[in-house]
Amino acid sequence: MHGYLKGKKILIGVSGGIAAYKVCEIIRDLTKSGARCRVVMTSAATKFITPLTLETLSEAPVLCELFPETSRSDVIHIEAARWPDMILLCPATANLIGKIAHGIADNLLTCICMATQAPILFCPAMNTQMYLNPIVQDNLKKLRQFNYRFIEPATGNLACHETGIGRLAEKEDILKSMVQVLYASNKLKGIKILVTAGRTEENLDPVRFLTNRSSGKMGFALAEVAALHGAEVTLISGPNNLKPPPGIKQIRINSAAEMAVQVFQIAAAQQIIIMAAAVADFRPKIISPTKIKKKTNLLKIEFEQTVDILATLGQRKGNQLLVGFALETDNQQKNAIQKLKEKHLDLIVLNDPQIAGAGFDTDTNQVTLIDKNENILEISLTSKFEVAQKIFDKIIEMSNSSRDLTPEIG
Ligand code: CTP
Repeated sequence: MHGYLKGKKILIGVSGGIAAYKVCEIIRDLTKSGARCRVVMTSAATKFITPLTLETLSEAPVLCELFPETSRSDVIHIEAARWPDMILLCPATANLIGKIAHGIADNLLTCICMATQAPILFCPAMNTQMYLNPIVQDNLKKLRQFNYRFIEPATGNLACHETGIGRLAEKEDILKSMVQVLYASNKLKGIKILVTAGRTEENLDPVRFLTNRSSGKMGFALAEVAALHGAEVTLISGPNNLKPPPGIKQIRINSAAEMAVQVFQIAAAQQIIIMAAAVADFRPKIISPTKIKKKTNLLKIEFEQTVDILATLGQRKGNQLLVGFALETDNQQKNAIQKLKEKHLDLIVLNDPQIAGAGFDTDTNQVTLIDKNENILEISLTSKFEVAQKIFDKIIEMSNSSRDLTPEIG
């Protein structure tokens, strides 16, 4: 994910709360990821950490004063407001939130926030009662209506020896939200997208089932990126313990048959369908109604094929854009191209689970994209979030060049 911060211009506004010390690590990670950082501190923030610390970490002069004695520019806030790709307010105190919500611009940071066109991400951090104060909540609500972005504070032990909501969100969550803010677009606005994710479980008896190692992470990342681009996303997923991405509709299923029912029910209304799920190809022909006892010396299980959901969608599709996955351990490209053609796909994502860091239950992946004209695009090992971004770059390029996406399934 950090690759997506490379070259991005980030203005970090630091206000005066104890969580200010945590911004040091965030700035260090941002510069390590290749982002260009500039820090603006309120005078209260300088009571908690020094400008020198943040100057060293951000590798740029820290701005504090609206009218610095040494500056010859009287429009320092305008210049700073025009510069960034986004502004991160971290930590954002109740005071800073209140000022921005009421259009007060009485210091450099609030002036920049008022003058900028860049998206602003607030990271509130404060005492629980301050956070829950109806005035603060009202200010947050007001700012949300004006499209300011927020990352909710976490719940836990606070510096004031209380336990509750108000801790600064975790660093990784902040960095992830920054990527979301930087990459959010309307490129798929109004487009209905169905993504399937994860494994299925095929019952053998009341206590046993057959499944596979799929975690669902790749499908969840795809759903998340689709929602970032403004799509109306439905995610149909097998058993997993992942947090659903914000702003999507999630339908949970267990078996391949249940997934088929849910997919076929809504497929006709979708413009893009991505089958990232690792659907079982076989299921036990008979599910024993009682637990199979071990006195059965030799257990023979008869299997029958499940319905191939993707192949069925391929047979029915009109102008829909259909994306499949292929998990191959040998003759990979040849097998993937065969699946692409047999299932009438527009794009296939080829996975090799034998590569370290790729495939099942990892946070990273390395894939090859093959489109229906057999154009090949290799995506080297990177986070599943980035892989999902690149898959959508390709999908958006394909849908722009070849069709308007009208649902047309029989
Ligand atoms: N798929 C599906 N329904 C199934 C099995 C697979 O929709 N019953 C979809 C998967 O979601 C994936 C694609 O088909 O997008 C390819 O899955 P994969 O397991 O790689 O291939 P199979 O077609 O099942 O063939 P094989 O297992 O023989 O390689």
